[in-house]
Amino acid sequence: MTFALHDAIAELATYNDDPAAGGITREVFTPTYERSVEFVSGLMRDAGLEVRRDAFGNLYGRLEGTDPSLPAVRTGSHVDTTLNAGRYDGVVGVLGAIEAMGSLLRDRRLRRAVEVVAFAGEEPRFASGCIGSRAVMGELSRADLDRLVDRDGMSLAQALAGAGFEPDAIETALWDPASVHAFVELHIEQGIVLESSGEQIGVVTAIAAPHDLRITLRGAADHAGATPMALRRDALVGAAEAMVELEKLAVGSPSGTTVGTVGVMRVRPGAINVVPGEVEFDVDVRDSDAEARQAVVDGFLAAVRVMATTRGLTAVVDEIVRDEPGTCAPFIVEAADAACASLGVRPRHMISGAYHDALILSRKIPVGMLFVPSAAGISHHPDEYTGREDIDRGAAVLGEVLATLAT
Ligand code: HGY
Ligand code: MN
Ligand code: MN
Repeated sequence: MTFALHDAIAELATYNDDPAAGGITREVFTPTYERSVEFVSGLMRDAGLEVRRDAFGNLYGRLEGTDPSLPAVRTGSHVDTTLNAGRYDGVVGVLGAIEAMGSLLRDRRLRRAVEVVAFAGEEPRFASGCIGSRAVMGELSRADLDRLVDRDGMSLAQALAGAGFEPDAIETALWDPASVHAFVELHIEQGIVLESSGEQIGVVTAIAAPHDLRITLRGAADHAGATPMALRRDALVGAAEAMVELEKLAVGSPSGTTVGTVGVMRVRPGAINVVPGEVEFDVDVRDSDAEARQAVVDGFLAAVRVMATTRGLTAVVDEIVRDEPGTCAPFIVEAADAACASLGVRPRHMISGAYHDALILSRKIPVGMLFVPSAAGISHHPDEYTGREDIDRGAAVLGEVLATLAT
């Protein structure tokens, strides 16, 4: 049965916990997510792949090779989403791989096994992203599963158990890096470079990484009407000052590629007539240039300390995640260039501003990434869009790369 890629993308988009708010919300380990994994498992089985899930809920579809002694080639991405997001982020890399493997199944017998992976939790429901790839790389301890909590206070361990997995057994999900020849991820660009340059395929050479912090500022909750401005210790105004400083530092970063974002903030007590006594906000600083990123983080933390002293606030800084930027393996970049040439496509070498599971895997495994264009560079938004032809072209290039690497 030929795999109907675009019908599958459309059907997967219906697994959505918040359609009224717009976009797609399908967070990892929720009942909706688990039903979506069942759907994708069925697509893998229909494509003739051997399907399994590991102890962390990562989903695998395997096509055996003719020489089982050889390390496998892996591909894939994720099918969980962030909040009110699009239908292509991650999905193109999983369903596109099933499409690519289907044609490999039909046309040639390869020496190496090829396996598609849908990683659990690429999006940061539990503050840190890429938890499924961190788990297989051995970067998540059992204690981390209790430490990492979502916005409602549910721990990763509770969510894992609620989805039917055993938090104490996650070590059985570990990958032996020697058993993996290469990992290649097809993904939407999530930026404007390909569309604005009129190019069809991005071949990623480096992947930017996040250094994320949680800042808690404490001042004094007070009466909004009876407290003179000069006597206030307003934590929210302090946070606002810090955020403006973050933006200035990122814009002025010498690399020209550092980005800084505050996307989450909790204000207490949160009443219109009370001066905010406490604010907690999450800071995301990224770059493919680790030094430039460090300079922005250092400058930001220095500014927070000065602001807190001036305003009579206390500041607590907790680290959420600090990943080193990743590089893609030259032999995979070359295979991607050759695949593009064989299909008459001009590849554009580029850096990924977004992080991906390939970033985490790159610490121990040779990785490569292929990008297809994002319309107007929009992503993590209901208007996220990539055209059918672009997706088909990405799946075709991926198929050629997988065949080259698995031959
Ligand atoms: O945030 C990211 O870079 C990824 O899209 N989750
Ligand atoms: Mn994403
Ligand atoms: Mn993604």
